[in-house]
Amino acid sequence: LHYDGKVYELPIVEGTENELALDISKLRDQTGLVTLDIGYKNTGATKSAITFLDGDLGILRYRGYSIEELAEKASFLEVAYLLIYGELPNKETFEKFKKDITLHTLVHEDMRKIFDGFPASAHPMGVLSSLVCSLTAFYPASLNPNRSPDAVNLTIIRLLAKMPTIAAWSYKNEMGHPLNYPNNALDYCANFLYMMFAYPTEKYEPDPVVVDALNKLLILHADHEQNCSTSTVRIVGSSQASLYSAVAAGINALWGPLHGGANQEVIEMLEMIQADGGNIQKYVDKAKDKNDTFRLMGFGHRVYKNFDPRARIIKVACDNILNKLGIHDPLLEIAKKLEEIALKDPYFVERKLYPNVDFYSGIIYKAIGIPTEMFTVMFALGRLPGWIAQWRELNMSREPIGRPRQIYIGEKERKYVPM
Ligand code: MLT
Repeated sequence: LHYDGKVYELPIVEGTENELALDISKLRDQTGLVTLDIGYKNTGATKSAITFLDGDLGILRYRGYSIEELAEKASFLEVAYLLIYGELPNKETFEKFKKDITLHTLVHEDMRKIFDGFPASAHPMGVLSSLVCSLTAFYPASLNPNRSPDAVNLTIIRLLAKMPTIAAWSYKNEMGHPLNYPNNALDYCANFLYMMFAYPTEKYEPDPVVVDALNKLLILHADHEQNCSTSTVRIVGSSQASLYSAVAAGINALWGPLHGGANQEVIEMLEMIQADGGNIQKYVDKAKDKNDTFRLMGFGHRVYKNFDPRARIIKVACDNILNKLGIHDPLLEIAKKLEEIALKDPYFVERKLYPNVDFYSGIIYKAIGIPTEMFTVMFALGRLPGWIAQWRELNMSREPIGRPRQIYIGEKERKYVPM
């Protein structure tokens, strides 16, 4: 096989379809090539015009625009529009989009009854996914796969508008604080901060530095092609389930520590190193020791064989934001030192284990007052436009239902012997 200027010797294999699938995946591991894997037909690959990433070069683009440029110059809502509709808005369309969203930020008062049933110990992600799914009950028209494009768009606008309200509620539930209703005079990110942190007795002015940091973080998390939660949204959506139930499924997928929980684990690791006297070399050595269960959290990525471009932007943003807020966080010093030591160590360099997006994001969230249990909720808030865009793309192209192919590896035929 001639591919990309290289010649690969491929063994000739014979066997059943299942046996061949196993051979092909072995071959893929050996050559690094992505080959046709007959075991994973509908979910192993999908065509999409939303996000481009090149793991070798560390490139990430939303609809063709560089993520660096968007994080620097655009607002989260502009990026949401771009991801969902494929084009950047002009002034007029953007004003209409913002207005449409503000019309729907309130959540139906009857949803309070569901919300009030959650104990304070409920994880905010459980509250978020349940309430997002319950939107299907309050807007049953969203269940109709054959509704008009305008009706589909209303479903999208409602979700974008209500998600920050529900996300802030999930935090208030945990705190036992009274809820703040949306303040539509504020923009999307500032309104979320208002619903999170304003006290009814005080005038709340969101700090522009914090609003800016939040916009950046949400933009950097807005889509990342076929990751676990996004492919979940696509596969649930492929059955023509409603946007609300597909996104609720995505939230649940994100909840897992291997996906959205990673930045929380980074903070916990940095705190552990700090509590142990800040001996970074000790933990670098532990990470290299095969017999030690310790792992460096926030290092390496399944797709990036180089720097995660988001990590580079977040590192700079982290420094700037903490400086502007006048915060000295010893965890940032530990994180930077850890990165410096690890990246000089051949063990990490050879394995291309570079810091990923999760390595610095938790430090920023901590600096702007977001507690660790809310980190995954923040990820969900950022990923929402990506999920919606992927659901809409699939929905518009009327893709067939997802049906991962199974390669059976269990027992052959067995005889039932009664007890
Ligand atoms: C993401 O942003 O979704 C993560 O980097 C996970 C992934 O790409 O699989």
